[in-house]
Amino acid sequence: MHTLPPYEELLSEVLITEEQLKNRIAELGVQISKDYAGEELLMICLLRGAVLFLTDLMRQISIPHTIDFMAVSSYGVGARESSGLVRITMDIRTNIQNHNVLIVEDIIDSGQTLSSVMELLDARHPKSLRACTLLDKTERREVDVPIHYVGFDIKDKFVFGYGLDLDEYYRDLPFIGVVDLDKYTPPDE
Ligand code: IMP
Ligand code: MG
Repeated sequence: MHTLPPYEELLSEVLITEEQLKNRIAELGVQISKDYAGEELLMICLLRGAVLFLTDLMRQISIPHTIDFMAVSSYGVGARESSGLVRITMDIRTNIQNHNVLIVEDIIDSGQTLSSVMELLDARHPKSLRACTLLDKTERREVDVPIHYVGFDIKDKFVFGYGLDLDEYYRDLPFIGVVDLDKYTPPDE
């Protein structure tokens, strides 16, 4: 275990407050409930970053829905960048044939992760397939991937909190904050 500095020492600014998150997620819930009216939805949460977003979002969705979880990891080095190669480390349990699938993700950066996940799921013939992300770093996009629902467009800065981690910690912060990476020393291997 390493000594973890209090988040205040690493926070350069609060980018999205708890209140702003709450309001925007409520809007997304209304929109999604409208778009799928008369249908059922299967929300697939990508672990681990999207967990907090999923649990808040699902409580704002008024149509019948179920949830499942999937974990993916990128091959290769580079702790804050994902390589193009994504593999499933934990698969969903649901057979998604004839389901309206909504992938729930915390943040889209290069787009590699989402693009691979969509390809994998599409091959299983869902009734429909869409993605919802809380955050979108549009300017970092490397692969063109369709995202139907976006909470917030953000600049190219490393963020933490509300599910998003800095080396697995700080996911519990109730807001989205920008990390001052100059003030952060990664734990020893
Ligand atoms: P992509 O494959 O490059 O789109 O990367 C998406 C993944 O990278 C997300 O699911 C996050 O786990 C991670 N990620 C990208 N940017 C950030 C960030 O600013 N903070 C925390 N995690 C991030
Ligand atoms: Mg993630």
